[in-house]
Amino acid sequence: MSVFSRLKTPTLALIMVTVWSPGLLAEQSDPSVCPTSDGSWSERALERSLSTQLGLPTVPHPVDNPPTAEKITLGRKLFFDRRMSINGTMSCAMCHVPEQGFANWELQTSVGVEGRSVKRNAPTIINTGFLDVLFHDGRDMSLETQFIMPLISRNEMANPSVGRVVAYLQGQPEYQPLFDAAFGAPPSLDRMGKALGAYQRTLTTGGSAFDRWYYGGDKTALSDSQTRGFELFQVKADCASCHVISDQSALFTDQEFHNTGYGWQREQIRQNPSPTTRVQVAPNVFHEIDRAVVASVSAPPQADLGRYEVTEDPDDRWMFRTPALRNVAMTPPYMHDGALPDLRSVIEFYNQGGPDHVFKDPRIRPLDLKGQEIDDLEAFLQALTSPGLDCLAAEARINAPDNF
Ligand code: HEC
Ligand code: HEC
Repeated sequence: MSVFSRLKTPTLALIMVTVWSPGLLAEQSDPSVCPTSDGSWSERALERSLSTQLGLPTVPHPVDNPPTAEKITLGRKLFFDRRMSINGTMSCAMCHVPEQGFANWELQTSVGVEGRSVKRNAPTIINTGFLDVLFHDGRDMSLETQFIMPLISRNEMANPSVGRVVAYLQGQPEYQPLFDAAFGAPPSLDRMGKALGAYQRTLTTGGSAFDRWYYGGDKTALSDSQTRGFELFQVKADCASCHVISDQSALFTDQEFHNTGYGWQREQIRQNPSPTTRVQVAPNVFHEIDRAVVASVSAPPQADLGRYEVTEDPDDRWMFRTPALRNVAMTPPYMHDGALPDLRSVIEFYNQGGPDHVFKDPRIRPLDLKGQEIDDLEAFLQALTSPGLDCLAAEARINAPDNF
């Protein structure tokens, strides 16, 4: 049973997803067991963001933004409101699609209003409330301020200023009671950030097969192959030195920046382009097209220097934040530019040891993993999918069409 069967109203997201459904929902929960009774969805979401789930730490709520059901209700409305973009077409949820693990399966790199491309892949918003550094280059530290960037980026929601969005909200009668209930005050930039922060910190899922096995003591939760994959992840392949697993909980990231060689390799390809280029014309439909034809109608591909773009320290070139790996099987494609289509390709990148690049982290080296070991490592990554994703997506869509 997939989440789509439960949607009451067909949506653009639904139509797009069914073109390429990668069959990733196998681990998903049965919608009939999603919590529905006992109060409103926002009260349940509040409870979740205050509880500690198996394998996860406690959600770190900022002292000046304690969560309430009212802030969460408002935050979700803002997250889904397309009118927050310059031309009323684009909401946060269109790049962070609930049914696609709050990421986007269809696009390597995001596309904003009027078809303008973003140079990076949209990460999942699930469990993002645990992170101290946001974006692939760590250029923001808080969900209370992060949202300003997509609102005003020309290739995302393209507002000419954030003041324009605040003024829009102040002029909308439907928002007055929501801000009043949440803050006892009218819309402001600060209050938008607090509401969006409170909402996004409810999007938490632990309790994966790995969590049940490692933290819950259920020896049957992982298959033999997944158990071997865990060993490889910890020891031979040394993945866990960056994608950290701690004693009490695991985010699968050290929240540090590393040069895996991947960003440098992509830059070499950008500087030495092949005569043709692969163009995606629909989800999972590609054509090889003469590069000159593409260049005549589009902006040239942008360089991506990763962490350097935040610090301007030459040593930080091509460093990217270690991504968290929870639910990673649910959020293809991979890496900061989404150019690796599946987990297999990521493992192959690591197994080959990345490109020959002088500033590469020494842990990225040929791993000599054999066929079965590659299967095992992939099986382990599949074990990081939480059972609650389907329910999170359903909750996000409650009260359609208000939040589509
Ligand atoms: C056009 C697509 C698009 C839209 C619209 C969009 N995002 Fe994003 N989002 C992205 C991309 C791409 C990134 C990564 C950008 C980067 O690292 O430079 C991102 C990153 C994030 C992150 C950081 C996640 C992490 O792991 O570090 C958060 C949180 C987030 N977005 C929330 C929002 C919110 C809230 C909105 C609406 C106000 C929004 N996004 C609108 C594409 C989008
Ligand atoms: C030196 C630290 C380091 C080590 C060791 C490491 N990784 Fe990574 N990993 C990263 C960084 C940094 C990225 C992001 C690279 C980028 O986007 O350009 C990443 C990206 C990934 C991604 C893509 C996630 C996504 O959402 O796009 C996966 C999957 C992954 N690593 C799995 C592994 C596995 C499996 C191993 C062991 C074979 C491993 N990593 C070893 C730092 C590391």
